Amino acid sequence: MHKLRNGFPDDFLWGGAISASQADGGWNEGGKGKSTQDCRWLDGTWTHEQIEEKHHNNPFSHDELMAALDDDGTEFYPFRRGCDFYHHWKEDLDLFAEMGLKLFRTSICWSRIFPNGDDETPNAEGIAWYRELFTACHERGIKTFVTMLHYDIPVNLVTKYGGWKSRKTIDFFVRYVETIVDELGDLVDFWLPFNEFNAGRFAPWDGVCLVADEEGEKLDQSIFQCLHHEFVANAHAVRIVHEKFPGVPVGGMIARFCTYPATCKPEDNLQALHDDQYANWFYTDVMARGAYPAYMCRYFDQVDVEIEMEPGDEELLAEHTVDFLAFSYYFSQVATADQGWAKTSGNLVMANKNPYLESTEWGWQIDPIGLRVTLNQMYDRYGLPLYIAENGLGTSDVLEEDDSVHDPYRIDYLKRHIETMRDAVIDGVDVRGYMIWGFLDIVACGPLSMSKRYGLIYVDLDNEGKGTGRRYRKDSFYWYKNCIAANGEALDDTLKQ
Ligand code: BG6
Repeated sequence: MHKLRNGFPDDFLWGGAISASQADGGWNEGGKGKSTQDCRWLDGTWTHEQIEEKHHNNPFSHDELMAALDDDGTEFYPFRRGCDFYHHWKEDLDLFAEMGLKLFRTSICWSRIFPNGDDETPNAEGIAWYRELFTACHERGIKTFVTMLHYDIPVNLVTKYGGWKSRKTIDFFVRYVETIVDELGDLVDFWLPFNEFNAGRFAPWDGVCLVADEEGEKLDQSIFQCLHHEFVANAHAVRIVHEKFPGVPVGGMIARFCTYPATCKPEDNLQALHDDQYANWFYTDVMARGAYPAYMCRYFDQVDVEIEMEPGDEELLAEHTVDFLAFSYYFSQVATADQGWAKTSGNLVMANKNPYLESTEWGWQIDPIGLRVTLNQMYDRYGLPLYIAENGLGTSDVLEEDDSVHDPYRIDYLKRHIETMRDAVIDGVDVRGYMIWGFLDIVACGPLSMSKRYGLIYVDLDNEGKGTGRRYRKDSFYWYKNCIAANGEALDDTLKQ
């Protein structure tokens, strides 16, 4: 019989997370090649509404790709500058250490290691930069949680080989993984091969680097074939880490869409089951259980998709399953058989509205209880250790004249989610770490804007890239510092500076 827990274990990992493409900048420095994310553009003068319209209704297109391949300017390609972590990382890590951070999640940019993806030898300067960065984390007592691929693949792999549509990309990925594990593996505490595995289904350019208007009617078929190649690549990554660094955990991650039936009508409940299977469980089932689940046969039949597998793929998936699961959690939604149900924005998707929830300025429905539900559901299903790889509030903030930033809304959001995470720990869920997303302000991924800020550290840059780039502690910075020091017990004890 397990003992009832009171709260977070002593070694709970309080963390913060960013990704290379959204934070680093330095897109053409240190031998880095152009990545797929370096190709996404924004008109920095657009209003919030114009940005949202572009984000949700105009997926990355062929014309945009062509324009970006020729362009070497910077103004309208926000990921090329990020929040300039590439040049500010020492001061940023010092701020993380000041907060008492225990775990830092970032990603390695594939095109900083292999600028074109198909190069024979890696870029030594890129490897040296990551060695310095991860060493500096450990020197500050911060463990490293490293994503191998957070949406940004060398764009050359897309234009020359078709990206993840081609099995060749699996081979290039394997070479990349062998290199980073050999060169950096001694400095990595947790590996995560892919950010949000299910993203490809909802954001094809980000997740599987497909240009939607080039695919036309075969978009679904192409997406699932790419995802199959990513599953194979993921299994190889697990294999490689296990062979070279036995004992270092490798995980699988999804963007978790917590879904409730809109009513107690059986049709809505069935819809909730299907939404959960197709948007969430499919991905974690393959990575954690090592096989395509039976329910996907029916789904593939319905959407007219046929996955081409090669001999050995199924065995590879079965043999190299993940050691832990991670997920991003931002909102919940409802499942309904009613096609006319009101919609609102959500991470990667337009969500069905829940009348009982408030939404953020960007329309994402705030639901701390959904986090506890998710943790319980995932632990019940797999029994694997869990990490919350992303959670946080994206909203606008104001830098005051005295350099302060008052963000009680963010403190409230974090506090309520940490409280329900603690409830899940008491429920018996083995959750081992929590990483606040966009730990310092970075370029938001969907809208490509700086004005949607997640950070506990304010970065003085706007949507047009204007500003000093200086860093400022927000009120939430001090709050999280206290929270970490009290191991999650002092959540009301805000703003002691
Ligand atoms: C996740 C991504 O989907 O959500 C991050 O892994 C992203 O890259 C985060 O930044 C929040 O989304 P957004 O669009 O607000 O940046």
